[in-house]
Amino acid sequence: MSKLYNGGVIILDFGSQYTQLIARRVREQKVYSQILPPSIPLEEILKNKPNAIILSGGPSSVYNQNSPKFDNRILKQNIPILGICYGLHLLVYNSGGIVECSENGEYGFAEVSLKHSNDLFRDLHSPLKVWMSHGDKVTKIPPNWNVLAKSTNNVIAALANSSNTKFATQFHPEVHHTNMGDIILRNFLFKISKCPPNWKPKNFVRKKVNEIKSKVKDSKIIVGVSGGVDSSVVAALMHKAVGSQAISIIIDHGLMRKNEAQKCVKELRKGLGINISLYNEKTVFLNGLKGIIDPEEKRKIIGNQFIYSFQKIAKTFGDVPFLAQGTLYPDVIESGISHGQKAELIKSHHNVGGLPDDMEFQLIEPLRDLFKDEVRDVAKELGIPNFLIYRHPFPGPGLGVRIIGEINEQRIQVLQDADQIFIDILHEDNLYNKIWQAFAVLIPVKTVGVMGDHRTYDNLLGIRAVTSTDGMTADWYRIPEKTLNKISNRIVNNVKGVNRVVYDITSKPPGTIEWE
Ligand code: XMP
Repeated sequence: MSKLYNGGVIILDFGSQYTQLIARRVREQKVYSQILPPSIPLEEILKNKPNAIILSGGPSSVYNQNSPKFDNRILKQNIPILGICYGLHLLVYNSGGIVECSENGEYGFAEVSLKHSNDLFRDLHSPLKVWMSHGDKVTKIPPNWNVLAKSTNNVIAALANSSNTKFATQFHPEVHHTNMGDIILRNFLFKISKCPPNWKPKNFVRKKVNEIKSKVKDSKIIVGVSGGVDSSVVAALMHKAVGSQAISIIIDHGLMRKNEAQKCVKELRKGLGINISLYNEKTVFLNGLKGIIDPEEKRKIIGNQFIYSFQKIAKTFGDVPFLAQGTLYPDVIESGISHGQKAELIKSHHNVGGLPDDMEFQLIEPLRDLFKDEVRDVAKELGIPNFLIYRHPFPGPGLGVRIIGEINEQRIQVLQDADQIFIDILHEDNLYNKIWQAFAVLIPVKTVGVMGDHRTYDNLLGIRAVTSTDGMTADWYRIPEKTLNKISNRIVNNVKGVNRVVYDITSKPPGTIEWE
C-alpha cells in the first residue's frame, strides 16, 4: 500500500461500477484518493491518516448474508464519512436505521428537494437533478440523524447524523449526470473534511524523487523504457533521483511498430537528454511465442521474457538489484491485483500479472498510483517534450496482443505495414491528436476478394481508434468517411496479404481497447 501520501480520501470499494470515477473526481479536486478493499481493518486505514472516507455504491443489499461488510469501528473515529448508494445503506443500517427493498427502484435521473440545511449542500438550491441507481431505500432513519433531501418519489435522497460527521446520498454525486455533483463533493472534501488540496504534479515529483533516492541509495537500477510516456516519465524521474546509477534500456522484442525501436532510441535521447541503449531480443521472444494463440498465455510469456532479458542484461552491469517500470493504476486494477485484494481479472498486463515468480529484481514502480492523464501532467512538470507526452499509448506486449492467433515473422510484417499506413493517414488528415489510441489488428480469418479481375483469398484486418482519458473507459472515434475510405484503399492496395479492412465500433466497456 502506498504510504507516499498521507491524508486525502480512502474509498472503500463495495463493487460499484463508479468506484474508479469517485477516485478520479476526488483527484480532480487535487486531493489524493486511493481505493481499498471494503473489509480492510481499521488499523490499516488509520496508517494512511485519511482526512475522509467514502463508502462506494455496490450491487449488494445490506441484508444479504454475503454482502460486503466493512470494519464498522470506522464509525467511532472522528473521520468524516460519505456513503454513496450502497454506502448510504451501510451507514444507515450500522447506525440503527432500517433499509428495505423498494418495490420500484429509481434508475436514471431523479429530482430531489433539499429539506434541511447542511454543509454538504452549501451553495445549492432545490430542486437538484441527480442520478439514481438503486433498488433498496431507507425506511427509518437512525436516531439523531436528519433527512437532508428527498426525491419526488418521496425516497430519502440524502441524510446526515446530527453531529455532522456521517453523510450519505442515495444518488451518485460522482457521475456527471448529477448536476452540481462536483459542488457536493467539494463541500464534502473541503468544507466538511478539510482535505489538503496537495495532489499536484510538483509535489508528486518531489516526493517520488526523495522516495527513490532513499530506496536505491548507491545501487544501480535498470529502467525498462518502451518509448511511451509512462516509461519515459519513469526514466526521467530515475535520472533526476539517482543520475547515472539508472541504466535505461529498450528491449526490442520484435513486436514493436515498424522501425519503432531505432526511432524510439533517437527520440528518447533527444527528448529526455539521457543515454538509452537498445537490446535486440527478438529471437528469444518469438521462439517463446511459437504456436501460442491463447491471449493470457501470450501475455505471461512476454511478461516473463521481459524480466529474463532484463536480468541477463543487468548481469553485464554487475550487481543491479532494482528494476523500474512504468506500471500504472489501471494496469494494477485490470490485472486483478488491487491493493492486495483479488479483483476480477480482465487481462494480465505484462508488467503486473505477467511477471515470473522467480524474478531476481526488486521492483520500483513510481507511477503505480497514477491514471494516464495524471502521468501526462507529471511529464509536463518534468519538462518532457510534447511529442513524447502525446504519443498514443502502446502496450508492453506490443503487436503480440494485436496479432490474433499465431505470431510469426510474416504476420508481424503484414501488421506492421498496415498499421504504419493507418497511423500515417491519421497524421495526414490531422486526426492523430484527436484520438487517444489507434492501431491495426490482424485477424486470423481469410476472406475472398477480387483485385484486377483475380480472385484473392487473404487476411482480414481490423482498425481501432478510441477516445479516452485514462484507458479505463473508451469510446470508438468517429473517423470521417473520407479518411476511412483512404485507409481501406491504401492498406488493401499496398499491403500484401490483406484484402479487407473492418472498423471496430465497440466502446469499453463492453469491449476492451486491445483485442487480446
Ligand atoms: P485494455 O485493452 O485493457 O487497454 O482496454 C487499456 C490500455 O492499456 C494498454 N495495455 C497495456 N499496456 N502492458 C501495457 O503497458 C499491457 O500488458 C497492456 N495491456 C493493455 C492498452 O494499449 C490501452 O492503452
